[in-house]
Amino acid sequence: MKMIERPRRLRRSESMRRLVREQRIDLDALVQPLFVDATLSGRRPVLSMPGIDRLGLDVVADEAVKLWESGIRSLLLFGIPEHKDAYASANADPEGIVQRATRLIKARLPEMVIFADLCNCEYTDHGHCGILDAVGNVLNDPTVELLVATALSYARCGVDVVAPSDMMDGRVGAIRRALDEAGYPDIAIASYAVKYASAFYGPFRDAADSAPAFGDRRGYQMDPANGVEALREARLDIAEGADLLIVKPGMTYYDIVYRLAERVDVPIAVYSVSGEYAMIKAAAAQGWIDEARIVDEMLIGAQRAGARVIVTYFAGAVARRLRGEG
Ligand code: PBG
Repeated sequence: MKMIERPRRLRRSESMRRLVREQRIDLDALVQPLFVDATLSGRRPVLSMPGIDRLGLDVVADEAVKLWESGIRSLLLFGIPEHKDAYASANADPEGIVQRATRLIKARLPEMVIFADLCNCEYTDHGHCGILDAVGNVLNDPTVELLVATALSYARCGVDVVAPSDMMDGRVGAIRRALDEAGYPDIAIASYAVKYASAFYGPFRDAADSAPAFGDRRGYQMDPANGVEALREARLDIAEGADLLIVKPGMTYYDIVYRLAERVDVPIAVYSVSGEYAMIKAAAAQGWIDEARIVDEMLIGAQRAGARVIVTYFAGAVARRLRGEG
């Protein structure tokens, strides 16, 4: 007897396809990154990321409210400070840009989940993620001390989740201990445990003014060729107290998301980075691809791979589209 092709029966109509669909786009799982610029009033477009603006402190809370109203519940803040120096001093400043933006947003939206990217590269004049020695190598331990001070200052302003993205060794444990001792046991740590040295960050360095003035980040970011190393980085960060792990970039690393999601017991976030956004925007502007369908496919793919949380520059646009606001 001929075998019947069974899956086809469940694809007979859109309603049936929806009935058995394994993944649905979930606005609750999306995180919208925002670039807040201390030197700016109003907004200024990021040229390599059409649709994304740097925001001044005068408009950041309005933007957050607009996102909230469209259904976005989480933001990831990046700060561009007024002054940069070799020690990233503006980062731990209680009146720093992320600190002020957080207070402004929380005053209007106490329920908005605020992630703060925790790194020094936007705050150093050389653009590297930490303090350098005489020959330009990043010094691990002094850099971790800076990150701890900054994490505490973010916590004091109402940040819900600090997201160390620097890849220094031992920083998750150091930040956890400091937060606990200072009375912030409920502030979560989302660790960029798995951050590849990727060309997909190109447009971000434009957006956040954080391109290294010399050299690159291969000394402290992971080799795209390696997967097993990701498991080790993840295990270490969980042992040190990470509440959530971030894999970055997104699409070319969904295998890593899958492997982690199968093996670890903290939620996995995937960060669909600036280069992914720019590629889709550029091709869509040419009429070469259907932006909405591509974005949905990318998000669903991430969920299917096991990502619980998705950081994406498309978050606001997806939310508005799903609500029929175009
Ligand atoms: C570091 C940081 C970077 C990104 C997020 N956090 C830049 C880098 O590692 O060079 C990149 C995000 C993106 O490309 O969208 N603070």
